[in-house]
Amino acid sequence: MQTKIETVKTLLDALPFIKEFRKEIVVIKYGGSAQTSPQLKEKFAEDILLMYLVGIKPVIIHGGGKKITDMLDALSIETKFIEGQRVTTKEVMRIAEMILSGEINKEIVSLLNSHSAKAIGMSGKDAHFITAKAKEFTKWGLTGNITDVKADVICNLIGEGFIPVIAPIAAGSEMGHPGFNINADLCASYVAKAIGANKIIFLTDTEGVLNSEKELFSSLTSTQVEAFKADGTIYGGMVPKVDACLEAINGGVAKAHIIDGRLEHSMLLELFTSEGVGTEIVK
Ligand SMILES: Nc1ncnc2c1ncn2[C@@H]1O[C@H](COP(=O)(O)OP(=O)(O)OP(=O)(O)O)[C@@H](O)[C@H]1O
Ligand SMILES: [Mg+2]
Repeated sequence: MQTKIETVKTLLDALPFIKEFRKEIVVIKYGGSAQTSPQLKEKFAEDILLMYLVGIKPVIIHGGGKKITDMLDALSIETKFIEGQRVTTKEVMRIAEMILSGEINKEIVSLLNSHSAKAIGMSGKDAHFITAKAKEFTKWGLTGNITDVKADVICNLIGEGFIPVIAPIAAGSEMGHPGFNINADLCASYVAKAIGANKIIFLTDTEGVLNSEKELFSSLTSTQVEAFKADGTIYGGMVPKVDACLEAINGGVAKAHIIDGRLEHSMLLELFTSEGVGTEIVK
């Protein structure tokens, strides 16, 4: 009996947070680094389903950089990064689309749907809802910067009760264009801004943003973020993530968090407890 009472208490503890986020859009960037084990993937699906069932509207944007690199290696295609962004040749673009839209996107959609969610997979090419232009073609090839997100496409899907699962690929404007490879973190923040999300959560493979002693920052301001980028405390894959957080909060998203995707149910801890987890980026 005592454990049953504890269960009820736990549910009641979550009540104020359920009230706060009910009917709100929460964008989740599901990092490739957080998609490692089948157990973690199951927990991710359970968390999304629970959020959905209490009335939160989740929108998922996934990454997959490591899987793209593994496939390119297996095919002996050279892969290069400049300032942390992949150089996307036409050949690399084909593989990126194959892995992101063909493999990872469908895997996440199937996983959620096997839990009776109504997940729908798409990339920016569907209904041309994300368009981009080359970041700097001579340097990065088909790596793009987003120019537009058509919010109505996503909002209509959410309104019909679907959970959009988005691969970070954008459409080019000319006919027959192979499309653009977009950094998934920035893709998530642009989508979050466009659809009026209340919160954006980045699930990754560290506790959050760490200092040089590997201790967690529970929150960081934009000034601190710039300073830690400049002195190298924040580097590599964490750079687009903190930039994406700033992009989101400056674009009207109320809250941006970077949390540990390796920790079971970290999304629920962030959403439904007062302590939260990971690092919050604030203005
Ligand atoms: N200050 C920092 N604190 C924590 N991690 C950092 C920091 N600076 C750099 N990193 C690196 O950033 C990595 C997270 O970014 P990464 O791009 O690898 O993952 P992801 O974005 O979750 O996955 P994907 O790119 O596949 O979507 C960490 O594993 C760590 O190596
Ligand atoms: Mg990354």
